Amino acid sequence: MTDKHPPTLPSPALLIPVNPRIENYMRSLLNKTDHPVLTAMETLARERNFPIVDRLVGAFLEVQTKSINAKRVFEFGSGYGYSAYWFAKAVGEQGLVICTDGDPLNKAQAEQFLSAASLWDTVDFYTGMAQTIFLQTEGLFDICYNDVDKGDYPEVWQMAKDRIRPGGLYIADNVLWHGRVAMTEYEDIVPGWTEAIREHNEQIFADPDFDTFINPTRDGVIVARKKT
Ligand SMILES: C[S@@+](CC[C@H](N)C(=O)[O-])C[C@H]1O[C@@H](n2cnc3c(N)ncnc32)[C@H](O)[C@@H]1O
Repeated sequence: MTDKHPPTLPSPALLIPVNPRIENYMRSLLNKTDHPVLTAMETLARERNFPIVDRLVGAFLEVQTKSINAKRVFEFGSGYGYSAYWFAKAVGEQGLVICTDGDPLNKAQAEQFLSAASLWDTVDFYTGMAQTIFLQTEGLFDICYNDVDKGDYPEVWQMAKDRIRPGGLYIADNVLWHGRVAMTEYEDIVPGWTEAIREHNEQIFADPDFDTFINPTRDGVIVARKKT
């Protein structure tokens, strides 16, 4: 007998790594980074429910970039340029951030925002599949940053790891995936994405050429430094 009306089971609660009150406190300390363009980009993200890294992770990316004196950054999945704002500010006028996104509207918006912040000259923004664009570039990068669809995370790590200079960084956002990576029962947003993130994280931690750590801020940011 088929049960046409099965009882709806509650979805397993997701895990928030850092207590939201603590993150709010940390964010309050970052008000000095305020810039009208940054605020406008954050407002748009809230209105469109668009997943930017937000200010806590943005400031973290800036510190990581400056700490290795990075000048050449490749971004897989740039959206409308919010994370690129932080990278571009950090690499300075002599640096370059190569941005990629599948949606041409995001490039147009990024140009508006980053021009208004006087950062557009530091950015080369390409529309299309990030992995394909990456293969058309040459040379090593100081930082490869991954924020594409989560099912592609293992593929992006595999292609990026050999193109990072010794002492350079691989960084990826959302590696805790709202706690799903640590849960046995969860609802995936897209089937297979949690498994792909787990595989990605395990591959990086197992790689003897990199020293790796996950910063649990927001949705988890992995940082892997290539050994010198
Ligand atoms: C999470 S958002 C990026 C947010 C951005 N890093 C930020 O913090 O402002 C992911 C973006 O990557 C794009 N995207 C996803 N998979 C992609 C791929 N394989 N190649 C190019 N763009 C991709 C989506 O269109 C989306 O705009």
